[in-house]
Amino acid sequence: MKKQIVICMGSSCFSRGNDRNLEIIESFLAEHQMQDQVDLRGSRCEERCDRGPILKIDEKIFTHANQADILKILRDNLFTEE
Ligand code: FES
Repeated sequence: MKKQIVICMGSSCFSRGNDRNLEIIESFLAEHQMQDQVDLRGSRCEERCDRGPILKIDEKIFTHANQADILKILRDNLFTEE
């Protein structure tokens, strides 16, 4: 089943780092040729601005998803199933 990544594009998360995180995610998917296995979409404010930037992968919600963490989050959550 395809993984679902939802990145909050609300103004708070966007300015807190999801603008750059989106670029990192897109590069990661391209580098690993995973674009067909992952649905990536943006969402409006997830009403957790104080804990942003917010990223969701399937049912998991990641708060304070900063650039230092994002690659680890992607690796840990996209490579779990064969
Ligand atoms: S802008 Fe992302 S939770 Fe509000």
